[in-house]
Amino acid sequence: MAGFAHRSRMKQIGYRDDDYAGKPIIAIVNTWSEINPCHYHLRERAEFVKRGVWQAGGFPVEIPAFSITETYMKPSPMLYRNLLAMETEEALRSLPVDGAVLMGGCDKTTPGLLMGAISMDLPAVYLPAGPMLRGNWNGKAVGSGTDVRKIWAERCAGTVSDDEWYSLEDGIARSPGFCMTMGTASTMTALAEALGMTLPGASSIPAADSNHPRLARDCGERIVEMVWGNYKPSRILTEQAFENAITVDMAIGGSTNAIIHLVALAGRRGLKLDLSLFERISERVPVLANIRPSGAFLMEDFYYAGGLLALMAGIRDLLHLDAMTVNGYTIGENLEFGRTIDAEVIRPRDRPIAATGGTAILYGNLAPDGAVIKTSAAEPRLMQHTGPAVVFRNFEDLAARNDQEDLEVTEDSVLVLQNAGPLGGPGMPEWGMLPIPKKLLERGVRDMVRISDARMSGTAYGTCVLHISPESFVGGPLALVRDGDMISLDVKNRRLDLLVSDAELASRRAQWVKPAARYERGYGALYLERVTQAHQGCDFDFLSGTAETPEPEIHA
Ligand code: FES
Repeated sequence: MAGFAHRSRMKQIGYRDDDYAGKPIIAIVNTWSEINPCHYHLRERAEFVKRGVWQAGGFPVEIPAFSITETYMKPSPMLYRNLLAMETEEALRSLPVDGAVLMGGCDKTTPGLLMGAISMDLPAVYLPAGPMLRGNWNGKAVGSGTDVRKIWAERCAGTVSDDEWYSLEDGIARSPGFCMTMGTASTMTALAEALGMTLPGASSIPAADSNHPRLARDCGERIVEMVWGNYKPSRILTEQAFENAITVDMAIGGSTNAIIHLVALAGRRGLKLDLSLFERISERVPVLANIRPSGAFLMEDFYYAGGLLALMAGIRDLLHLDAMTVNGYTIGENLEFGRTIDAEVIRPRDRPIAATGGTAILYGNLAPDGAVIKTSAAEPRLMQHTGPAVVFRNFEDLAARNDQEDLEVTEDSVLVLQNAGPLGGPGMPEWGMLPIPKKLLERGVRDMVRISDARMSGTAYGTCVLHISPESFVGGPLALVRDGDMISLDVKNRRLDLLVSDAELASRRAQWVKPAARYERGYGALYLERVTQAHQGCDFDFLSGTAETPEPEIHA
């Protein structure tokens, strides 16, 4: 009866028995959606994947998955990364499929799809959506997020007119694909490649380039071979693979969000990535990608300059070359094809953008479990700074008071945002680049020290201490900061401290009242109950690890 149901329903779709009998069934997990401009081309790309699957002797089935769009999703797309991971895992488990092509790219979709595929551990290849073309504004190349924020700051300071501002809307996003700065999307797709989960060179190809549909076709062909060869994520994602990914993250000046996602991805393999590992690797890896926000160029330039293969070839002595990848060759073998074409965009080792990785991990009495700062996107003069706190209790408070004339703030102040972490946001929104108060902008101030338990967009910049853990919403020390307290940031010694006596902090802690939960029901309630803190990857506690999940039984 079970066989009858399956076969008759295949016939309902229009397939003959020999279309699928004896062939690997390939799920094409597609995060296409009309409300996700970064993935707008993925519906068409799925057809190219299918072509590759058919030609290799497989049977493709396209499966829609939750399209987490960074642009439109509220309160924060990060709230839903784990939901996409659960959907991916359970779809691959419950449906009769043998392997998967995962199609994503907009920030949270890469970790979400990979986390699910790792936990299910079926052969899987990641197909990055590709970055969009360079933006164009008044004949100048402009980048997602980074340039928009800079031009917005100038508009707030009165140096950019309304007409100029609105003309930016026409030129900032000129093609399908994800943000073309080294934001979270470009970072995470690059790290998917460094982990060995994409075909070599895949992460750099712009969405609009005709190499992209050919890549889609190649993914379809390869996944069929991977099923026959049993290339599961567990065979590829070793400790060495994660160290490679962290190394590449530093060399590209990657988004700080990558730290959270890599910790979560490793957790799905039962591996613990301590924040200190990021610190150790950061110290020995130079930033070589001259891409905004840390550098000058954009992802399209990066592709023409040789792409990720060229960059990785430049640091091959820092990588584990025998790590396996989805194409059946090792990283070292794939890097034989890496060649730098433009050494201004992909810098040589003797002329890096920064001598060490762009990320520092801070500890101190304000961040007992760690905090993160992207030093490559911050002003060097602020790397050692002590100043009085200007505290905002939450985002609404920040929005209401930040631009008020009577706000007591100077360029030496430290802006503090509370209740913006995993539970407090909720979903740890990208509010960590707190806006410079208007009256300081008008005086020419463009950077100052800002600290929070929020994340920051990978396209953002500035001296922003992020991911303070534990977060203020659960009573972390950040909750105890008050206006005027002196805060010391000392990046050289990796410290973030609140210069207030222990006795005073104990007294404030005794008065602290836990805020009410933000959700009583639904997915939000599950999230609040089971999400972990930033230094643990913000995964659900019951989703990490490799405990066996039984195969579903098949009943008639
Ligand atoms: Fe999709 Fe930036 S909005 S990657």
